[in-house]
Amino acid sequence: MTILDGKKVSNDIKNEIAEEVKKMKALGEKVPHLAAVIVGNDGASLTYVGSKVKACERVGFESTMIRMSNTTSEIELLDKIEELNLNDDIDGFIIQLPLPKQIDTQKVLMSVDPDKDVDGFHPMNFGKMALDMSTFIPATPFGILELLDRYNVETKGKHTVVIGRSHIVGRPMSILMGRKGFPGNSTVTITHSHTKNITQITSQADIIISALGVPNFLKAEMVKDDVVIIDVGITRVVDETSPKGYVITGDVDFENVSKKASFITPVPGGVGPMTIAMLLKNTLLARELRHK
Ligand code: GUN
Repeated sequence: MTILDGKKVSNDIKNEIAEEVKKMKALGEKVPHLAAVIVGNDGASLTYVGSKVKACERVGFESTMIRMSNTTSEIELLDKIEELNLNDDIDGFIIQLPLPKQIDTQKVLMSVDPDKDVDGFHPMNFGKMALDMSTFIPATPFGILELLDRYNVETKGKHTVVIGRSHIVGRPMSILMGRKGFPGNSTVTITHSHTKNITQITSQADIIISALGVPNFLKAEMVKDDVVIIDVGITRVVDETSPKGYVITGDVDFENVSKKASFITPVPGGVGPMTIAMLLKNTLLARELRHK
């Protein structure tokens, strides 16, 4: 069994990006600038955005974090997005999700300039991805592809089962794994809350990508020997004995499933750090597109 070490690979990627930034600086070029908008006070979202800003510093990017109150109206957020669209210094930006209830998420994502949409959530970029055109691939699916690539995990002709159909992970992942090329060329089954007898499906999978958000959902009895496991779950589970009062728990019963798996991502330290590294990669790409 091999651990797909997202922490290590993401560090390698950050080092590669830092080298690129050094070259830009030596040539007197502008370094990439990422902005992140966060609306409200959700603890997990604040942690994620904080990590994204820290990662920018680590590779030498400029970053701007924009905090807006929980009572922000849709129009206020749309005005802020317009400002970022027009700000020539900013190469790419993200709107951290989820957004408060009074705001229409789809409307907001559609107002982001597709050339600055480093999350790849704009319908134009999502459509390009589905049509195999060059574009920003959403950071978490992009990170999973990169992990499979760097560990040379065979995907061609394999049966990939995706658990969850979110717009951020499950849906794009199901498209990407079925695309021509590597990683890809898989036969993909996408499962969700209405799927009947999920064990019958997961037990036929060569690769399982779980993005459900239910701690320890996937048990050893649900998978076959030598399965490849990608665990995208990051749920905070209350644990009085840990310093923070919670532990981050994946969708997979790691202790038992890892005994049957050929490759498996840990939580934490698997997919999570890859997401941030790939957001940096997309920001680098956005800057290249804007300055060539
Ligand atoms: N919320 C959970 N994951 C993500 C992500 O990748 N991007 C944004 N913007 N929000 C998220």
